[in-house]
Amino acid sequence: MELFDVYPLYNVSPLKAEGLWVYDKDGEKYLDLYGGHAVISIGHSHPHYIKKISAQLEALGFYSNAVQNPLQKELAAQLGNISACDEYQLFLCNSGAEANENALKLASFHTGRSKVVAFKNGFHGRTSAAVAATDNPSINSLLNAQHQVDFVTLGDLQALEAQLAKGDVCAVIFECIQGVGGLDEASGDFYNSLEALCRKHDTLLIADEVQSGYGRTGDFFAFQKHGITPDIISMAKGMGNGFPIGGILIHPKIEAKHGMLGTTFGGNHLACAAGLAVLEVMEKEQLMKNTREVSAYFKDKARNIPHLKDIKGRGLMLGLEFDFAVAPLRKKLIHQKHIFTGGSANKNLIRILPPLNVTKEHIDLFIDALSETIQGQQL
Ligand SMILES: Cc1ncc(COP(=O)(O)O)c(C=O)c1O
Repeated sequence: MELFDVYPLYNVSPLKAEGLWVYDKDGEKYLDLYGGHAVISIGHSHPHYIKKISAQLEALGFYSNAVQNPLQKELAAQLGNISACDEYQLFLCNSGAEANENALKLASFHTGRSKVVAFKNGFHGRTSAAVAATDNPSINSLLNAQHQVDFVTLGDLQALEAQLAKGDVCAVIFECIQGVGGLDEASGDFYNSLEALCRKHDTLLIADEVQSGYGRTGDFFAFQKHGITPDIISMAKGMGNGFPIGGILIHPKIEAKHGMLGTTFGGNHLACAAGLAVLEVMEKEQLMKNTREVSAYFKDKARNIPHLKDIKGRGLMLGLEFDFAVAPLRKKLIHQKHIFTGGSANKNLIRILPPLNVTKEHIDLFIDALSETIQGQQL
């Protein structure tokens, strides 16, 4: 049987990985500054992670959400503690798109409205409402296009107010730092006004922290820098260090009703073990502190990279913007220097999304290799 050919693939086949390093079938090692798309939070094959998941698998891999699962409560308690969002309620699912789908559905249930406001250049996933709230017509089918979504420019308060004043918007969904879009972030004033406008018009505010959450920016959630309180927070990528798990944090003002949301696999025993292992390692190894320190070091060292126009993003969710299109450069970094990086909708930008236990030595390796490659290419 052939695979359904939807991914343009690099010709690399990873077979094993450890920490920041990925090894291919020929035993070549690659420095992972992409984290499998911001997913690897505590490093590949972390011993505590392996131990915890293996032990859980020996005991019980899965049982349904029809019975008690104390691991979900343990995960909620630890997550509330480390994120300082203890008052929220947790619903678990399996991916980022699913988290946003549930967040939007819940906002519609809560407000009795159906229209969504999202931002230009945003990305929220591939499922029905999540992709409709994603500003990319090429990945929206006619089926998805039936959702009512209006897009406004990130930072444009007037346009936002004009939409919300119509009184029919259930939610505004936003990425505090746009990931796929290219690392743009609006001002603190904008995010505070966004929150105030949502309150004024009884619209729920959904923070999509699927990529920027779980310590990636040096804060647990990226919105926390701006001191706002979203009504729903969606999470996924860093949550399971590669084990598929996602979730939403739901403000106490939103009441649960039996049957309102549900899932077969979400919050299963193995996923919870992975999620708990991630939080335990983050706390024990102080990965948010490491994120802030290595980020500052990166930004300082990166200033000398030739042809660099701007350094965007925060923590270990960074973008290097050049004065040329970076696709050939990223290819050379993989095949000649054995370094994985990410791309974005901004063709001139390299995305840096390493595991949060990356060190200054890894950054030195990258910046030297990148500078050398740029100097060696004809622009
Ligand atoms: C901000 C954001 N939201 C949602 C998603 C969708 O997540 P998933 O691919 O797990 O469905 C992504 C994935 O890149 C993302 O970056």
